[in-house]
Amino acid sequence: MTGIKKGIVLAGGAGTRLYPLTLIASKQLQPVYDKPMIYYPLATLMTAGIRDILIISTPLDTPRFRELLGDGSRFGIRLSYAVQPEPKGIAQAFLVGEDFIAGDPVCLILGDNIFYGKMGLDRIVQDFSSGARVFGYPVADPERYGVVEFDKDGQVLSIEEKPPKPKSHYAVPGLYLFDGKVSELVRLQKPSTRGELEITDLNMAYLRRGELAVEKLGRGIAWLDTGTHTSLLEASHFIGTLEARQGLKIACLEEVAFMKGFLTRTEMEKVIAQTPMSSYREYLERVVRDEC
Ligand code: G1P
Repeated sequence: MTGIKKGIVLAGGAGTRLYPLTLIASKQLQPVYDKPMIYYPLATLMTAGIRDILIISTPLDTPRFRELLGDGSRFGIRLSYAVQPEPKGIAQAFLVGEDFIAGDPVCLILGDNIFYGKMGLDRIVQDFSSGARVFGYPVADPERYGVVEFDKDGQVLSIEEKPPKPKSHYAVPGLYLFDGKVSELVRLQKPSTRGELEITDLNMAYLRRGELAVEKLGRGIAWLDTGTHTSLLEASHFIGTLEARQGLKIACLEEVAFMKGFLTRTEMEKVIAQTPMSSYREYLERVVRDEC
């Protein structure tokens, strides 16, 4: 059987770097221009055709995400929620989400990762059969990320987490595809020196088994950072600039659902009727009138 039908958004973490913004609402609830940040990774999964999604967050924030997004029916998807009691690493998502995964392949996206552009993720997700697939994206500051080392022929030699001397400019974005044995492999993992189950160690475990594929992302794709006040503002500017220029919204979840056929026209009209009078509602009205 090929294809991935399940997705996880990990929206945990202490978010201390954005203090005091994150004192009462987690990082992934902060606005990026006109929407909460988590809309963007959700749109990425939905665009890839994934409709069954688990949101993992902290004990404090999980109820807030539920309040924001509900059961997902407004977006033609099924949302469930799970709590990560303490921030013990990205790979822990596969233990917290083990019942949800139930041995099926899964796509994990970090709740603060924003992608824009045609990545062909729907095809990649549909064709996925086994192993692990991650991406490589050129950045100016690779030392802040997981970094891929390639040999002369483009074969992957290693991935290092935040290396002081990066072996390439290719960072691994927070979007990962794993097969059904992922939880089992995490169980074999030891916490790192900072006490976390590192996603990079998990990727390395797949690499050692000869089951890791790294796909380089092209120049036409934006992968935006939201980790600092400046990069958060830049992400808002990026989205705001494109939306103003085109008159189209990025990561409008109701629109994505309508385009993908997750919501019928009648369902979309019902959703609009429940939407408060706002520019967002006007946009949704334009979408059903086929003006977008
Ligand atoms: C995490 C991962 C890192 C990855 C990055 C992508 O880092 O550990 O490998 O490149 O996400 O956003 P963090 O942002 O948690 O420091």
